[in-house]
Amino acid sequence: MTDLMTPQTPQWWKKADVKKTLILWIISTAVIGYVGVEFHVRNIVAPASENMSSIISLIRIFTWAAAPVAGLVTAMCITVLTSSRHYGDNPPAEADQEIRNSPKTAAVWIVVSGMLCLFALVSGLIVLQHDNEAVLDTEAIQVNVVGQQWVWNFDYPNGARSDDLYLPVNKPVVFHITSKDVKHSFWIVQMGVKMDANPGYTTEAAVTPDKIGVFDIRCAELCGLLHAYMQTKVHVVSQIDYDAWLKSHAAMEAGA
Ligand code: CUA
Repeated sequence: MTDLMTPQTPQWWKKADVKKTLILWIISTAVIGYVGVEFHVRNIVAPASENMSSIISLIRIFTWAAAPVAGLVTAMCITVLTSSRHYGDNPPAEADQEIRNSPKTAAVWIVVSGMLCLFALVSGLIVLQHDNEAVLDTEAIQVNVVGQQWVWNFDYPNGARSDDLYLPVNKPVVFHITSKDVKHSFWIVQMGVKMDANPGYTTEAAVTPDKIGVFDIRCAELCGLLHAYMQTKVHVVSQIDYDAWLKSHAAMEAGA
């Protein structure tokens, strides 16, 4: 016979509430992960560089890593809201599994949160390191980017200057970004490049466009009245077209 002074509680995972929460957890994790990824990726334009492709896969991975956490909170909320309520000053007699005072629960929570944070930090640092190395590529085309209220200007090594950006496909480019007046942010939407343009300071960003086409450049920092109209295009063309454009544009500039 079991000792009546130390009542045996049913194993916690056999409780109806726990079972319900576990099932809800699995369902909400799947729903949140799927909807989260689809919502994000559908709202993002098709990538036009490797940077953008890796940003999109990071979004997928991070969303799926976060889904079980959001799923657990959702499952617990649903269980609590749909359970019968207990009124009174003291907890009901059957409330014998207090999560609040359980060192095991706290330990699991801290370890899991810590691992998730570490995972996000390490994957972020790997991408950052990759970006930093790309900026040092001496073979890359060097383009100076100047932002001012409310236009972008691009200066090429041969002296050409334009307010539409032209780039050859599959060739690394390094941007040296600055501003003439206030803070702007140089954003090539489809290439995943977003870098502050600060007055009196040069920031760097690198990218290799991998798709021929016309893509959007915007300003991503509120910089005054016409901030929303501070946008232009990047034309990614073949190497031959790029060379021709660069030559004619340099000549035009010199002739002007
Ligand atoms: Cu420049 Cu906003």
